[in-house]
Amino acid sequence: MDRTRVIATAAAYPEQVITNDDLAKIVDTSDEWITQRTGIKERRISAGENTSVYVIDVAKKLLDRASVAAEDIDLIIVASVTADYGTPSLACMVQKEIGAVNAIAFDIVAACSGFMYALTTADKYIKSGTYRNAIVIGGETLSKIVDWTDRSTCVLFGDGAGGAYVEESKDAGLIREIIGSAGESYEILTEGYTNCANAFNDLQDYTDPKWYVYMNGREVFKFATKKVIKSLKELLEAEGLTGEDIKYFVPHQANIRIVEVIAKKLDIPFEKFYMNMERFGNTSSASIPIALNELNEKGLLERGDRIVLAGFGGGMTWGTVLIEW
Ligand code: ACO
Repeated sequence: MDRTRVIATAAAYPEQVITNDDLAKIVDTSDEWITQRTGIKERRISAGENTSVYVIDVAKKLLDRASVAAEDIDLIIVASVTADYGTPSLACMVQKEIGAVNAIAFDIVAACSGFMYALTTADKYIKSGTYRNAIVIGGETLSKIVDWTDRSTCVLFGDGAGGAYVEESKDAGLIREIIGSAGESYEILTEGYTNCANAFNDLQDYTDPKWYVYMNGREVFKFATKKVIKSLKELLEAEGLTGEDIKYFVPHQANIRIVEVIAKKLDIPFEKFYMNMERFGNTSSASIPIALNELNEKGLLERGDRIVLAGFGGGMTWGTVLIEW
Protein backbone atom coordinates (compact mmCIF):
# COMPACT_ATOMS: atom_id res chain seq x y z
CA MET A 1 0.00 0.00 0.00
CA ASP A 2 1.20 3.51 -0.76
CA ARG A 3 2.16 5.69 2.14
CA THR A 4 2.50 9.42 2.59
CA ARG A 5 6.10 10.40 3.07
CA VAL A 6 7.59 13.64 4.36
CA ILE A 7 10.04 14.79 1.70
CA ALA A 8 10.90 18.28 2.98
CA THR A 9 10.26 20.47 6.00
CA ALA A 10 10.53 24.22 6.54
CA ALA A 11 9.79 26.95 9.07
CA ALA A 12 9.49 30.74 9.16
CA TYR A 13 9.02 33.09 12.08
CA PRO A 14 9.40 36.74 13.09
CA GLU A 15 12.85 38.18 13.71
CA GLN A 16 11.66 39.99 16.82
CA VAL A 17 12.57 38.08 20.01
CA ILE A 18 10.57 38.91 23.15
CA THR A 19 12.15 37.59 26.35
CA ASN A 20 10.49 36.91 29.69
CA ASP A 21 12.21 40.05 31.00
CA ASP A 22 10.61 42.05 28.18
CA LEU A 23 7.20 40.75 29.28
CA ALA A 24 7.93 41.65 32.90
CA LYS A 25 8.01 45.28 31.71
CA ILE A 26 4.36 45.17 30.57
CA VAL A 27 2.69 42.74 33.03
CA ASP A 28 3.32 41.70 36.64
CA THR A 29 5.44 38.60 35.98
CA SER A 30 9.04 37.40 36.13
CA ASP A 31 11.49 35.28 34.20
CA GLU A 32 11.58 32.91 37.17
CA TRP A 33 7.79 32.34 37.25
CA ILE A 34 7.48 31.80 33.50
CA THR A 35 10.53 29.52 33.30
CA GLN A 36 9.49 27.37 36.24
CA ARG A 37 5.83 26.99 35.27
CA THR A 38 6.25 26.64 31.51
CA GLY A 39 9.87 26.15 30.40
CA ILE A 40 9.53 29.16 28.07
CA LYS A 41 12.35 31.75 28.00
CA GLU A 42 11.56 33.73 24.86
CA ARG A 43 9.20 33.78 21.88
CA ARG A 44 9.05 35.33 18.39
CA ILE A 45 6.47 38.10 18.04
CA SER A 46 5.35 39.65 14.76
CA ALA A 47 6.37 43.23 14.08
CA GLY A 48 3.15 43.58 12.07
CA GLU A 49 3.35 40.76 9.53
CA ASN A 50 0.16 38.73 9.38
CA THR A 51 0.01 34.91 9.44
CA SER A 52 0.09 34.61 5.63
CA VAL A 53 3.59 36.12 5.49
CA TYR A 54 5.08 33.20 7.46
CA VAL A 55 2.89 30.56 5.86
CA ILE A 56 3.78 31.68 2.32
CA ASP A 57 7.47 31.80 3.25
CA VAL A 58 7.25 28.17 4.44
CA ALA A 59 5.50 27.09 1.23
CA LYS A 60 8.21 28.71 -0.95
CA LYS A 61 10.96 27.01 1.05
CA LEU A 62 9.18 23.65 0.75
CA LEU A 63 9.02 23.89 -3.05
CA ASP A 64 12.67 24.78 -3.15
CA ARG A 65 13.80 22.05 -0.75
CA ALA A 66 11.70 19.36 -2.41
CA SER A 67 12.64 20.60 -5.92
CA VAL A 68 8.99 20.50 -6.97
CA ALA A 69 7.35 22.87 -9.45
CA ALA A 70 4.38 24.83 -8.09
CA GLU A 71 2.17 23.61 -10.97
CA ASP A 72 2.74 20.04 -9.82
CA ILE A 73 1.27 20.61 -6.35
CA ASP A 74 -2.08 18.82 -5.95
CA LEU A 75 -3.18 19.89 -2.49
CA ILE A 76 -2.47 22.71 -0.03
CA ILE A 77 -3.78 22.48 3.53
CA VAL A 78 -3.05 25.12 6.17
CA ALA A 79 -3.96 24.71 9.84
CA SER A 80 -4.50 27.97 11.71
CA VAL A 81 -6.72 29.73 14.24
CA THR A 82 -5.34 33.14 13.26
CA ALA A 83 -5.83 33.39 9.49
CA ASP A 84 -5.58 36.87 7.94
CA TYR A 85 -9.17 36.68 6.65
CA GLY A 86 -12.37 34.73 7.30
CA THR A 87 -12.14 34.12 3.58
CA PRO A 88 -9.93 33.58 1.62
CA SER A 89 -8.24 30.73 3.40
CA LEU A 90 -4.52 30.97 4.06
CA ALA A 91 -4.17 27.97 1.76
CA CYS A 92 -5.68 29.94 -1.16
CA MET A 93 -3.32 32.84 -0.41
CA VAL A 94 -0.42 30.37 -0.56
CA GLN A 95 -1.77 29.00 -3.84
CA LYS A 96 -1.73 32.47 -5.40
CA GLU A 97 1.70 33.46 -4.11
CA ILE A 98 3.49 30.29 -5.19
CA GLY A 99 1.47 29.80 -8.41
CA ALA A 100 0.12 26.34 -7.56
CA VAL A 101 -2.56 26.71 -10.22
CA ASN A 102 -3.54 23.04 -10.27
CA ALA A 103 -3.95 22.54 -6.53
CA ILE A 104 -7.02 22.55 -4.34
CA ALA A 105 -6.50 24.61 -1.20
CA PHE A 106 -8.28 24.90 2.13
CA ASP A 107 -7.70 25.60 5.83
CA ILE A 108 -8.36 23.48 8.88
CA VAL A 109 -9.19 24.74 12.39
CA ALA A 110 -8.06 22.36 15.10
CA ALA A 111 -5.98 24.77 17.22
CA CYS A 112 -2.76 23.24 18.54
CA SER A 113 -3.64 19.85 16.99
CA GLY A 114 -4.12 21.56 13.62
CA PHE A 115 -0.97 20.25 11.97
CA MET A 116 -1.90 16.69 12.97
CA TYR A 117 -5.36 17.11 11.46
CA ALA A 118 -3.94 18.67 8.28
CA LEU A 119 -1.24 16.04 7.84
CA THR A 120 -3.61 13.12 8.34
CA THR A 121 -6.16 14.70 5.99
CA ALA A 122 -3.49 15.00 3.30
CA ASP A 123 -2.57 11.38 4.00
CA LYS A 124 -6.17 10.28 3.28
CA TYR A 125 -6.23 12.08 -0.09
CA ILE A 126 -2.89 10.56 -1.03
CA LYS A 127 -3.61 7.02 0.18
CA SER A 128 -6.94 7.02 -1.66
CA GLY A 129 -5.09 7.86 -4.88
CA THR A 130 -6.97 11.15 -5.29
CA TYR A 131 -3.78 13.24 -5.14
CA ARG A 132 -0.09 12.47 -5.33
CA ASN A 133 1.32 15.18 -3.09
CA ALA A 134 0.53 18.01 -0.68
CA ILE A 135 1.91 21.04 1.07
CA VAL A 136 0.82 20.95 4.72
CA ILE A 137 1.47 23.95 6.97
CA GLY A 138 0.59 25.11 10.48
CA GLY A 139 0.91 28.86 10.99
CA GLU A 140 -0.16 31.45 13.54
CA THR A 141 0.16 35.02 14.72
CA LEU A 142 -1.24 34.39 18.17
CA SER A 143 0.09 37.78 19.24
CA LYS A 144 -2.95 39.42 17.60
CA ILE A 145 -5.48 37.50 19.72
CA VAL A 146 -3.64 37.53 23.05
CA ASP A 147 -4.76 39.94 25.76
CA TRP A 148 -1.44 41.66 26.50
CA THR A 149 -2.73 42.78 29.90
CA ASP A 150 -3.48 39.19 31.04
CA ARG A 151 -0.32 37.72 32.56
CA SER A 152 -1.84 34.25 32.85
CA THR A 153 -2.00 33.84 29.06
CA CYS A 154 0.18 36.44 27.32
CA VAL A 155 3.43 34.84 28.53
CA LEU A 156 2.65 31.53 26.85
CA PHE A 157 2.35 32.21 23.14
CA GLY A 158 4.47 33.05 20.10
CA ASP A 159 4.15 33.53 16.33
CA GLY A 160 5.46 31.49 13.40
CA ALA A 161 4.80 28.75 10.88
CA GLY A 162 6.14 25.34 9.96
CA GLY A 163 5.27 22.77 7.36
CA ALA A 164 6.04 19.75 5.27
CA TYR A 165 5.88 18.74 1.63
CA VAL A 166 4.55 15.17 1.48
CA GLU A 167 4.07 12.78 -1.40
CA GLU A 168 3.06 9.20 -2.18
CA SER A 169 5.71 6.62 -1.40
CA LYS A 170 6.05 2.86 -1.66
CA ASP A 171 8.02 2.47 1.57
CA ALA A 172 8.54 5.01 4.37
CA GLY A 173 5.90 7.42 5.61
CA LEU A 174 2.94 7.88 7.91
CA ILE A 175 2.17 4.55 9.55
CA ARG A 176 -0.63 5.09 12.02
CA GLU A 177 -2.55 7.91 13.68
CA ILE A 178 -4.89 8.43 16.57
CA ILE A 179 -6.96 11.59 16.17
CA GLY A 180 -9.74 12.70 18.47
CA SER A 181 -12.10 15.51 19.40
CA ALA A 182 -13.99 16.29 22.61
CA GLY A 183 -16.27 19.20 21.72
CA GLU A 184 -18.06 18.86 25.05
CA SER A 185 -15.02 20.53 26.68
CA TYR A 186 -14.64 23.38 24.17
CA GLU A 187 -15.15 26.11 26.76
CA ILE A 188 -11.86 25.47 28.59
CA LEU A 189 -9.84 27.03 25.75
CA THR A 190 -11.30 29.64 23.40
CA GLU A 191 -10.31 32.61 21.24
CA GLY A 192 -11.58 34.74 18.39
CA TYR A 193 -15.26 35.02 19.34
CA THR A 194 -17.13 37.68 17.38
CA ASN A 195 -20.70 38.54 18.29
CA CYS A 196 -23.59 38.72 15.88
CA ALA A 197 -24.05 42.49 15.63
CA ASN A 198 -26.08 43.54 12.60
CA ALA A 199 -28.32 46.35 11.36
CA PHE A 200 -31.45 44.69 12.79
CA ASN A 201 -30.41 44.10 16.40
CA ASP A 202 -28.92 46.32 19.09
CA LEU A 203 -25.64 44.47 19.53
CA GLN A 204 -22.79 46.87 18.89
CA ASP A 205 -19.81 45.58 20.77
CA TYR A 206 -17.60 44.17 18.03
CA THR A 207 -14.54 43.42 20.16
CA ASP A 208 -16.08 40.96 22.57
CA PRO A 209 -13.83 40.01 25.53
CA LYS A 210 -14.01 36.47 24.19
CA TRP A 211 -12.04 37.65 21.16
CA TYR A 212 -8.91 37.13 23.27
CA VAL A 213 -7.40 33.81 24.28
CA TYR A 214 -9.19 32.41 27.31
CA MET A 215 -7.83 29.34 29.01
CA ASN A 216 -8.61 27.35 32.11
CA GLY A 217 -4.95 26.39 32.55
CA ARG A 218 -5.48 23.58 35.04
CA GLU A 219 -8.21 21.91 33.01
CA VAL A 220 -6.12 22.17 29.84
CA PHE A 221 -3.19 20.65 31.71
CA LYS A 222 -5.33 17.69 32.86
CA PHE A 223 -6.86 17.24 29.40
CA ALA A 224 -3.50 17.33 27.63
CA THR A 225 -1.75 14.83 29.87
CA LYS A 226 -4.71 12.42 29.88
CA LYS A 227 -5.35 12.41 26.13
CA VAL A 228 -1.74 12.40 25.00
CA ILE A 229 -0.79 9.58 27.38
CA LYS A 230 -3.77 7.47 26.29
CA SER A 231 -3.29 8.04 22.57
CA LEU A 232 0.49 7.45 22.69
CA LYS A 233 -0.07 4.21 24.56
CA GLU A 234 -2.70 3.02 22.08
CA LEU A 235 -0.60 4.03 19.09
CA LEU A 236 2.50 2.17 20.26
CA GLU A 237 0.53 -0.89 21.35
CA ALA A 238 -1.29 -1.10 18.03
CA GLU A 239 2.06 -1.32 16.23
CA GLY A 240 3.64 -3.63 18.82
CA LEU A 241 6.20 -0.94 19.69
CA THR A 242 7.56 0.53 22.91
CA GLY A 243 9.20 3.88 23.62
CA GLU A 244 12.54 2.24 22.86
CA ASP A 245 11.57 1.79 19.21
CA ILE A 246 10.96 5.52 18.77
CA LYS A 247 13.89 7.84 18.08
CA TYR A 248 12.08 11.08 18.91
CA PHE A 249 8.71 12.17 20.21
CA VAL A 250 7.79 15.63 18.96
CA PRO A 251 5.12 16.98 21.31
CA HIS A 252 3.11 20.17 20.99
CA GLN A 253 5.33 22.80 22.58
CA ALA A 254 2.92 24.16 25.18
CA ASN A 255 4.53 23.53 28.49
CA ILE A 256 7.55 21.56 29.70
CA ARG A 257 5.65 20.27 32.73
CA ILE A 258 3.06 18.58 30.52
CA VAL A 259 5.88 16.77 28.70
CA GLU A 260 7.51 15.77 32.00
CA VAL A 261 4.26 14.14 33.15
CA ILE A 262 3.81 12.31 29.82
CA ALA A 263 7.41 11.01 29.82
CA LYS A 264 7.15 9.84 33.42
CA LYS A 265 3.77 8.13 33.09
CA LEU A 266 4.83 6.28 29.93
CA ASP A 267 8.29 5.53 31.30
CA ILE A 268 9.96 7.05 28.23
CA PRO A 269 13.29 8.90 28.70
CA PHE A 270 12.59 12.64 28.83
CA GLU A 271 15.51 13.22 26.40
CA LYS A 272 13.54 11.49 23.65
CA PHE A 273 11.04 14.37 23.63
CA TYR A 274 12.34 17.04 21.29
CA MET A 275 11.60 20.50 22.62
CA ASN A 276 12.26 24.08 21.59
CA MET A 277 9.54 25.85 23.59
CA GLU A 278 12.20 27.73 25.53
CA ARG A 279 12.92 29.69 22.30
CA PHE A 280 9.48 29.81 20.64
CA GLY A 281 6.81 29.51 23.33
CA ASN A 282 3.54 27.95 22.26
CA THR A 283 2.90 28.64 18.56
CA SER A 284 -0.25 26.47 18.43
CA SER A 285 -0.58 24.67 15.07
CA ALA A 286 2.96 25.75 14.12
CA SER A 287 4.74 24.26 17.12
CA ILE A 288 5.09 20.67 15.96
CA PRO A 289 6.20 21.45 12.37
CA ILE A 290 8.68 24.08 13.60
CA ALA A 291 10.18 21.49 16.00
CA LEU A 292 10.13 18.78 13.31
CA ASN A 293 11.94 21.11 10.91
CA GLU A 294 14.62 21.77 13.54
CA LEU A 295 15.19 18.05 14.01
CA ASN A 296 15.43 17.65 10.25
CA GLU A 297 17.70 20.66 9.67
CA LYS A 298 20.04 19.51 12.43
CA GLY A 299 20.40 16.18 10.61
CA LEU A 300 19.03 14.25 13.58
CA LEU A 301 16.68 12.12 11.47
CA GLU A 302 17.82 9.21 9.34
CA ARG A 303 15.85 7.18 6.86
CA GLY A 304 14.02 4.38 8.67
CA ASP A 305 13.87 6.22 12.02
CA ARG A 306 10.51 6.05 13.74
CA ILE A 307 9.21 9.29 15.20
CA VAL A 308 5.93 10.21 16.86
CA LEU A 309 4.24 13.63 16.62
CA ALA A 310 1.76 14.38 19.40
CA GLY A 311 -0.55 17.41 19.48
CA PHE A 312 -3.39 18.57 21.70
CA GLY A 313 -5.37 21.76 21.76
CA GLY A 314 -8.54 23.80 21.59
CA GLY A 315 -11.77 22.22 20.48
CA MET A 316 -10.75 20.20 22.44
CA THR A 317 -8.72 18.10 20.02
CA TRP A 318 -5.74 15.76 19.96
CA GLY A 319 -3.71 13.87 17.40
CA THR A 320 -0.81 11.43 17.55
CA VAL A 321 0.98 10.26 14.41
CA LEU A 322 3.66 7.58 13.94
CA ILE A 323 6.03 8.21 11.02
CA GLU A 324 8.79 6.11 9.53
CA TRP A 325 11.22 8.71 8.22
N1 ACO B 1 3.45 35.56 36.29
C1 ACO B 1 3.33 35.54 37.61
N2 ACO B 1 2.28 35.00 38.26
C2 ACO B 1 1.32 34.47 37.50
C3 ACO B 1 1.37 34.46 36.09
C4 ACO B 1 2.49 35.05 35.49
N3 ACO B 1 2.66 35.10 34.15
N4 ACO B 1 0.26 33.85 35.63
C5 ACO B 1 -0.47 33.48 36.68
N5 ACO B 1 0.17 33.85 37.82
C6 ACO B 1 -0.25 33.67 39.19
C7 ACO B 1 -1.75 33.52 39.32
O1 ACO B 1 -2.37 34.79 39.39
C8 ACO B 1 -1.87 32.77 40.61
O2 ACO B 1 -1.72 33.69 41.67
P1 ACO B 1 -2.59 33.52 43.02
O3 ACO B 1 -2.19 32.18 43.58
O4 ACO B 1 -2.16 34.69 43.81
O5 ACO B 1 -4.01 33.54 42.54
C9 ACO B 1 -0.65 31.86 40.59
O6 ACO B 1 0.27 32.43 39.65
C10 ACO B 1 -0.95 30.45 40.17
O7 ACO B 1 -1.75 30.50 38.99
P2 ACO B 1 -2.22 29.20 38.27
O8 ACO B 1 -3.00 29.55 37.05
O9 ACO B 1 -2.84 28.29 39.27
O10 ACO B 1 -0.81 28.63 37.83
P3 ACO B 1 -0.45 27.22 37.34
O11 ACO B 1 0.56 26.63 38.20
O12 ACO B 1 -1.67 26.39 37.02
O13 ACO B 1 0.26 27.56 35.96
C11 ACO B 1 -0.21 27.44 33.63
C12 ACO B 1 -0.44 28.19 34.90
C13 ACO B 1 1.27 27.53 33.30
C14 ACO B 1 -0.98 28.06 32.49
C15 ACO B 1 -0.65 25.99 33.88
O14 ACO B 1 -1.98 25.92 34.30
C16 ACO B 1 -0.48 25.13 32.70
O15 ACO B 1 0.62 24.71 32.39
N6 ACO B 1 -1.57 24.77 32.04
C17 ACO B 1 -1.52 23.99 30.84
C18 ACO B 1 -2.10 24.73 29.78
C19 ACO B 1 -1.12 25.18 28.76
O16 ACO B 1 0.03 24.88 28.74
N7 ACO B 1 -1.70 25.89 27.85
C20 ACO B 1 -0.99 26.37 26.76
C21 ACO B 1 -1.95 26.87 25.77
S1 ACO B 1 -3.18 25.78 25.39
C22 ACO B 1 -2.62 24.68 24.32
O17 ACO B 1 -1.57 24.82 23.82
C23 ACO B 1 -3.46 23.55 24.04
